Amino acid sequence: MSDYETILTAVDQGVATITIDRPKALNALNMQVLTDVTDAATGFDADDEVKAIIITGAGKAFAAGADIKEMSDLDFATAFKADWFAGWTRLTNVRKPVITAVNGFALGGGCELAMMGDILIASTKAKFGQPEINLGVLPGMGGSQRLTRAIGKAKSMDMCLTGRMMDAEEAERSGLVARVVEPEELLTTANEIAHTIASKSRIASAMVKEAVNTAFETTLEQGLRYERRLFHSTLATNDQSEGMAAFVEKRDPNFTDS
Ligand code: CAA
Repeated sequence: MSDYETILTAVDQGVATITIDRPKALNALNMQVLTDVTDAATGFDADDEVKAIIITGAGKAFAAGADIKEMSDLDFATAFKADWFAGWTRLTNVRKPVITAVNGFALGGGCELAMMGDILIASTKAKFGQPEINLGVLPGMGGSQRLTRAIGKAKSMDMCLTGRMMDAEEAERSGLVARVVEPEELLTTANEIAHTIASKSRIASAMVKEAVNTAFETTLEQGLRYERRLFHSTLATNDQSEGMAAFVEKRDPNFTDS
């Protein structure tokens, strides 16, 4: 039983799944979806039983964007005072690995939500785009920034200025997507990835996430030093002793997240 209005949640052997469930509106991201997704993700982040999180969409869309009907009468003062969309930062602050599994349309805020995860996988039916320009606006949940970092200026300008859609094959070729699989294999693959991550040390996986994300925030020299310091700090963990002992003893490690 889910306590949420717009999402379904499930937990299976250390992997939590959040499914956005407004298929009639192509999972458009209204404020209730923002609250539900970020509450659920924050809750799973604090739950010791959970080691990785999957976010996906029900029906033919991952999410077709922020809810245009909810925004059509929004005025500047209201949006500015509420810092509209800033609430999604709660999701990007999650420390456990997040896999976004894109089953169909990932447009506008949907593409931006997909990019807030750590590993983006797509079905062959996925379509990505930043079509805000068609509405007389521009991306507001990170599209101009994360898409540019993911696929570079040339393609990001193309996507954001024309509003065209990109299919899964182009998205993978461009570096937006980690893997493309057949639609019926999407959740199986997302779960395989998540369970693989769940079998590792949670401390090490959180450090990997922090280190890779630091590459987007800092100079190479500072990033390399930060990575080295994180590496040094793993030497204070039981999981490092266990992981290396298991290798030497030719057995599987038993990580305890300590
Ligand atoms: N907001 C609100 N409702 C939406 C929506 C959205 N972003 N996208 C789709 N819907 C609704 C439609 O209004 C429709 O509802 P009704 O049945 O009540 O009319 C229902 O979902 C099904 O949509 P369509 O009939 O349009 O389905 P389609 O298969 O013909 O077209 C589509 C699919 C091409 C994705 C089309 O729905 C579309 O272009 N959607 C809008 C995409 C978009 O512009 N997204 C950007 C939003 S702005 C944003 O996201 C800002 C930001 O950066 C955060």
